[in-house]
Parts: sequence; C-alpha cells; structure tokens
Amino acid sequence: MALMTRTFALNENVSIPAVGFGTYLISSEDAPEVIQTAIECGYRHIDTASGYRNETAVGEGIQAGLASTGLSRSDIFVTAKLWPGNSAWGDAPKTHEQTLAECDASLERLGLDYVDLYLIHAPYGGAERLSQWRALVELQTAGKARSIGVSNFNRGHLDEIRTAGLPTPDANQIELHPWSQKPELLAYMAENGIAPIAYCSLVPLSTWRTEEGQASAKTEQMKADSAAFSDMARKYGVTEAQFLLRWGVQNGYAVLPKSLNPQRMKQNIDLEGFEIDDTDMAAIREMDRGQGVAWATGDPSSAD
Ligand SMILES: NC(=O)c1ccc[n+]([C@@H]2O[C@H](COP(=O)([O-])OP(=O)(O)OC[C@H]3O[C@@H](n4cnc5c(N)ncnc54)[C@H](OP(=O)(O)O)[C@@H]3O)[C@@H](O)[C@H]2O)c1
Repeated sequence: MALMTRTFALNENVSIPAVGFGTYLISSEDAPEVIQTAIECGYRHIDTASGYRNETAVGEGIQAGLASTGLSRSDIFVTAKLWPGNSAWGDAPKTHEQTLAECDASLERLGLDYVDLYLIHAPYGGAERLSQWRALVELQTAGKARSIGVSNFNRGHLDEIRTAGLPTPDANQIELHPWSQKPELLAYMAENGIAPIAYCSLVPLSTWRTEEGQASAKTEQMKADSAAFSDMARKYGVTEAQFLLRWGVQNGYAVLPKSLNPQRMKQNIDLEGFEIDDTDMAAIREMDRGQGVAWATGDPSSAD
C-alpha cells in the first residue's frame, strides 16, 4: 500500500488532491495539532468552512504542518466555504457585498492570502443565491480563490447559474457514498464540467459520528448494516474505511475523510496498491439508498 497522490482537474489551472482532510467536528482546541499531524501523514488538501467555527485553529495547524514538513503554501490545497445564511433559520442570506467580506474574514482567520477552492456551503441563499455566486466569480478574478464552486446544490440550483449565463462552478461538494450515489446529479455535473467532491464517504461504518450530539440522520436499518462492506474489504486486505474511500477515488471523486486518530488518519490516505474490481463496483452500484444522512436538519439540496 502507498499514499494516494492522485489529483483531479477542477479548471485549466487547478487540480485537487484526491484525498483531503475533513475538519468538521474538530474543536479549536484539537485542530492545530490534528491538522499538523495530517500534513505530516501526507495530506496535501485540507477542507474547512466558516460554519465549522474552527478556521483560526485550522490555519494554525496548516502553518505548523508547513513548518514541520518544510513544505510551502503552494504545496497545500485549502478549501474554505461561505456560510450563505438561511432565512428559514432566521439567518439573513448574505448579500453580494457580505459574501466578498466573508471571504476576506475567512482568509484572515486562516492566515492565508488565497484559498485554492471557495464554495457556497449550501443553496440556502434564496433570492441572494445568484448574487453570492457572482461574488465568488469576482473573488476568483481577484485571485482570492484559485477555483470556485458550490456544495449541496441540486440540478435546479446548478441550472439557475447556467441559465443566468454565469460561469459554471468548478465543483459541487456533496454527500456521496455507496448508500447515496446521486447518479442523475452526477451525470448532469459531468455534462457541464462540474467536478464532484465527496463528503461523508465513511457513513456506512459503525464508527461514523458516534459521539453525543454529532448530527446524523442515519436510520436504524443503516446502523444494523454497519459492516456491509467488511467482506468486500477483506478480499483486498484493506479496512472498510479504505475500501469506501477507494470506491470514491475510483469513481473520480476527491474524498475528505476526517479523523482525530493518527492511525486512522494514516490509513485513510493509504489507498494506492489495490483496485476494486468491476464485479464489486457493479454490485455496489445496486446498493444506492437515495439521499444522504449527514445533515440532521434534512437534505440541504432540497432548499428552494
Ligand atoms: N459540504 C458539506 O455540507 C459537508 C458536510 C459534511 C462534511 N463535510 C466535509 O467532509 C468531511 C468528512 O465528513 P465527516 O467528517 O462528516 O465524515 P467522515 O470523514 O465520512 O467520517 C468521520 C467519522 O468516521 C470515523 N473514522 C474516520 N476514519 C476512520 C477509520 N479509518 N476507521 C473507523 N472510523 C473512522 C471518525 O471518527 P474519529 O475521528 O474518532 O476517527 C468520524 O466519526 C468533513 O470533516 C467536512 O470537511 C462537508
């Protein structure tokens, strides 16, 4: 086995490392050391968001990781996300000007001059959604984001951008794993040159978000099926987590495993040296159960 160093193209100038390190549910207390360790383990892609409320600590971890490995800023791919607001939650959608200011605030907290990818976290902007996207286009032109995209957008939200004659997103970050495969959305994205980035690849594991208060809409049936991929993984001599992550990368999705445990961190990027065969890939295609489970509040892509 060996470190996964593959990348996927996002636009003419930018490629995204196939394995990123997820930072949701990592506290500001833990983040500096955890992110430093992730970089030391070989991660070259860090996924964060203002909504995770840990950007300052993630930024400290990035600086510490660069210092301890001797890498430079350009060796690391950093994704940040705009929290768009959500009037359904009494949180006014961000305007165009506020979106520009939010990106500056994230850069300041992260201690960076630019991010490699800036995303609208969810399609919650309502009447401001296109203004938010126009602001991201400006941020890219200004060099504050090397690539831009969205997250949790459905086909209708993506079409809204296209119909407005605006540049299409470089990527759409969505929940993708064998139980949530979204084939129609992925086909539309492929037709329109929008790269998929997969979050929550590890949902089928029994160890996925087990701590008190961690959001999950995992059903009892899913919990009962928590060893669903262990036989397949055993066949390749890998862990279930490695199997699920490799499935994503083999499908052409960047994946974003999060772990606080250094052994798991190493395992989750150690994905070269085996290939899931066509029979198993075809069997998994039949295992789709529809929408995802990561947002306890319901599927964000169903927003108007
Ligand atoms: N755009 C969005 O709306 C959105 C939504 C959700 C997530 N994300 C991004 O995607 C990232 C990944 O999603 P996620 O953090 O929800 O879930 P995940 O990475 O799929 O799974 C993390 C869970 O699995 C456990 N785990 C990790 N590696 C393991 C291994 N090798 N063996 C057994 N258990 C393992 C972790 O526990 P330990 O920490 O104890 O190891 C944790 O409970 C996030 O951190 C975030 O950056 C984006």
